[in-house]
Amino acid sequence: MPSETAQRTNKIPEKGLPQDTIRKELEAKLQRDLTYSSGKILCSMCTNPHSFAKQIYWKYLEKNLGDPSLFPASAELEQETISMLGSLLSNPKASGSIVSGGTEANIIALWAARNLAKKERGEVIVPVSAHYSFDKASDLLNLKLIKVKLNRRFQMDVKAAEKAITSRTVAIVGVAGSTGLGVVDSIRELSEIASANDIYLHVDAAFGGFVLPFLKELGYKPLDFDFSLPGVCSITIDPHKMGLAPIPAGGILFRDAKMTEAVSMKVPYLAGGETEHSTVLGTRSGASAVAVWALLMNLGRAGYAAVVERCLGLTWKLVEGIQRIDGLDLVTKPTLNVVGVKSDTVDVSLVFQELRKRGWAVSLFLDYLRIVIMPHTKQSHIKRFLEDLQRILANLRT
Ligand SMILES: Cc1ncc(COP(=O)(O)O)c(C=O)c1O
Repeated sequence: MPSETAQRTNKIPEKGLPQDTIRKELEAKLQRDLTYSSGKILCSMCTNPHSFAKQIYWKYLEKNLGDPSLFPASAELEQETISMLGSLLSNPKASGSIVSGGTEANIIALWAARNLAKKERGEVIVPVSAHYSFDKASDLLNLKLIKVKLNRRFQMDVKAAEKAITSRTVAIVGVAGSTGLGVVDSIRELSEIASANDIYLHVDAAFGGFVLPFLKELGYKPLDFDFSLPGVCSITIDPHKMGLAPIPAGGILFRDAKMTEAVSMKVPYLAGGETEHSTVLGTRSGASAVAVWALLMNLGRAGYAAVVERCLGLTWKLVEGIQRIDGLDLVTKPTLNVVGVKSDTVDVSLVFQELRKRGWAVSLFLDYLRIVIMPHTKQSHIKRFLEDLQRILANLRT
């Protein structure tokens, strides 16, 4: 394994090197990266993309959705993809784009909300559990974030959200699958408040969007979060998370095309004459959208439901194991395949460091560890992880 101080390449060679030499050098240089197949990545909301999606992505790499006049068929496939995702979220008429990820999708949602509201010094109400992409969005869009506390179940405190509404509020954001704990806010109540006050409601289901629609058929308690709730104006849903698509593939869906128009800009110089962009990026990957289209068609609802069933099943195995380890406890009973682990007896940051020394990558939040069980995780990985965790706890307590 090359050391972290291995010689850095900082110059383009005068004369090109043979491809085999470069391949070998890349193999060596990239060895320090973790791999999904090792099972050691337990903190990412991304995963090894599905092999069929990888093949499709590779085949259509040259497609550029920034210039739909050159790639009209790809643009149409993107819209079919949006309709399919819309139907998953109870609104086949949804409009929107396949974007670079949840961050861009959340930025676009607040951009639309701000433009529709036309208010001075606009404010956006988010739970403190919201992803930091909303901090980025508010900085970029000159919006003030009003961060609202959580209730005992780690959901946005709806009463506090209602209280935070002012004449400057341009949007409320609810999270359907929070980054830290996979918690789903009470989107039904937020929808009622948003409708009653005529305020834009955005739902960040970047992670939960490919999990929540399947809960009911898998025998879990269903949770309302999508366009079936009348106040929901837009939803972020990321194919490159639980959708198994290659990075970059996020999704922003609006209830109707009028909302998309709020962020549409005319681009005058493209080959087909005037065209419109409704994304932050200009040139953007058509291969991403085509790969998502292909994978939705290939896996179907049943295929995705099976992926969710497996991840949730393994999550419960992990939960059982954690509950058996002296000194560890759950932050809250998981709703999705995200588990928060706390301790009253040991410092979780030390547990985090010890895990890292053994190659395990989990996330460290302020006072808990976060583990995400993604499709690349196998039961054998969980078994080995729990064994290591048990040893670490035993050592730290002596
Ligand atoms: C709830 C939520 N929203 C948005 C994002 C941002 O997504 P991305 O990293 O694809 O930009 C994340 C990332 O984990 C997330 O958990």
